[in-house]
Formats: sequence, structure tokens, C-alpha cells
Amino acid sequence: MAKKSLVDFVRMKKDGEQVTWVTAYDFPMASFAEQAGMDMILVGDSLGMIVLGYKGTNPVTMADCISHCQAVRRGAQSTWIVGDMPFMSYQISDADAVANAGRFIKEAEMDCVKLEGGVRVASRIRAITDAGILVIGHIGLTPQSSGQLGGFKAQGRDVVNARALIKDALAVQESGAYALLVEAVPPEVTKFIATKLSIPVYGIGAGPADGQLLICGDMLGLFQAFTPKFVKRYASVAEIEINAFKEYVKDVRDGSFPADEHVYHIIEPQTEFEKLFQEFE
Ligand code: KIV
Repeated sequence: MAKKSLVDFVRMKKDGEQVTWVTAYDFPMASFAEQAGMDMILVGDSLGMIVLGYKGTNPVTMADCISHCQAVRRGAQSTWIVGDMPFMSYQISDADAVANAGRFIKEAEMDCVKLEGGVRVASRIRAITDAGILVIGHIGLTPQSSGQLGGFKAQGRDVVNARALIKDALAVQESGAYALLVEAVPPEVTKFIATKLSIPVYGIGAGPADGQLLICGDMLGLFQAFTPKFVKRYASVAEIEINAFKEYVKDVRDGSFPADEHVYHIIEPQTEFEKLFQEFE
């Protein structure tokens, strides 16, 4: 399948065609997503929880992100890939934000970057887009600032909070972002935002939108700590892996692995090998 571009995503919004989007953090996962015909991949800083074992996303560094983005690009060369800017890679200054966004493009061949926030990161989005880099905004439940939000909680459920979200969405568009991701927001609010904005609006736990994102660890049943309400589970990969490891442990312990079909056979007569072994007696 040909790699999609910005032109395709704009047309898909216009035609009401859904964009499919999933996270991936390594070569095999990226390759599987591409083979499945996914439109976009996000190398999310959720890698901190899903593959690095942190309790949240904030310990994730630029070095972690660049390395995982590089692996994902190697695995999915024909897919639009979004690099997620980690905590403190854009919070300090516009200059920092541009320099770090540039690393995703130059060092990891990402197609664009994503950063969290609305009104308060408007100047960062403007600075990065002015540098010629495509940006996706991310509002609603923004994990990097979940402490300020009172935890991993749905947003926009009351009128005061929904008003702030709508202002954030408008600020993201006005700052030059080419798309917006809305996380853990009631469908009524997402729908209003999607009709108000001319840029594509994608959702994760936000009801119908111009496209959907899920975290691979959640949808595949890889991540065991918790599963958000909005996730649809498509597989139980942890169970499959644990059962396979258990079977392997049993086979090694009872001697049924390795069997004859798992070994390399000698290609000269046994007698020649006996002579060889004699030399060392
Ligand atoms: O890091 C990530 O996977 C994300 C999603 C939660 C949207 O930013």
C-alpha cells in the first residue's frame, strides 16, 4: 500500500473516510501494523509504561524516543509515523521545542511530531510549524500533565471544562497544527470540536471522530497493569506469550526440547567424528 501523506489525510476528512492509527514502539510491532494496512503509527511516550516499565510517561527521554522512533521507521517504511515529544522536550522554550522537534525529523525520519496542550503551548506549535515541521496537537486527558488534571481522568464532562477544551482545540488549529488528537472526552464534545475545526480531529477514548487511535499494548492485551474503559481488546497477547514460555520451560525440563528436528546433523560419517573425538582423548 502506498504511504499516505498530508494530502490524503485532508481528503479523508473531507470524504468522511476514517483514519486508522495505533501506537508502536519497536521494529516488529511497526512492521505488523504496516502489514495490517494501518494509516498512521504513533511512537508514543506511552512507551515508558508499555515497554520500559515506568509508572508514567514523564521519565521518558529524548534519547528513548529517538531510538524507538528509529526502530519503528525501520519496521514501517511506507507508513506515516508520528513522533511523540516527551515531557520537558518542549515545555521550557520555543527554541528548545524547535530543536527537539527537528531531531525527530532529522535523526528518526518521522513525518511529524505530537505535543500535549492547547492554549498554553500555542507558541510552541507556531514555532515548530514555522520551522517547517508538521505538528499534531493533543488535548483532553494529557498524560504528561495528569497530575494537574487529578490523575488519568476523562476531561470535558462539565461545561466549564468543555469550554476550556474547545478553546484549546481552536488554539491548536490557529497555531498551525495540521491535526488534533482528543483523548478521553465525551463524544458530544469531540463531535462539536470536529465540526468546528477544519483540520482532522482524531480520537482516543473520545467517541467517533475523523479517525481512531489505540495503544497497541492495550488493544493487544500486552499491558497488564490496567486497561482504560475506552479500549476494545482485540487479542490476549500476554496470555499467549506466558503460555508459550510455560510450555518451553516444561519441554526443556522434561527433555522433549530440543528434539531431532531442532538439531543440525553431521555431514560426514559418524566413524570420522569418532576418530576426531579420539584425537582429544
Ligand atoms: O504516548 C501515547 O501513546 C499518547 C497517547 C496516550 C495518545 O500520547
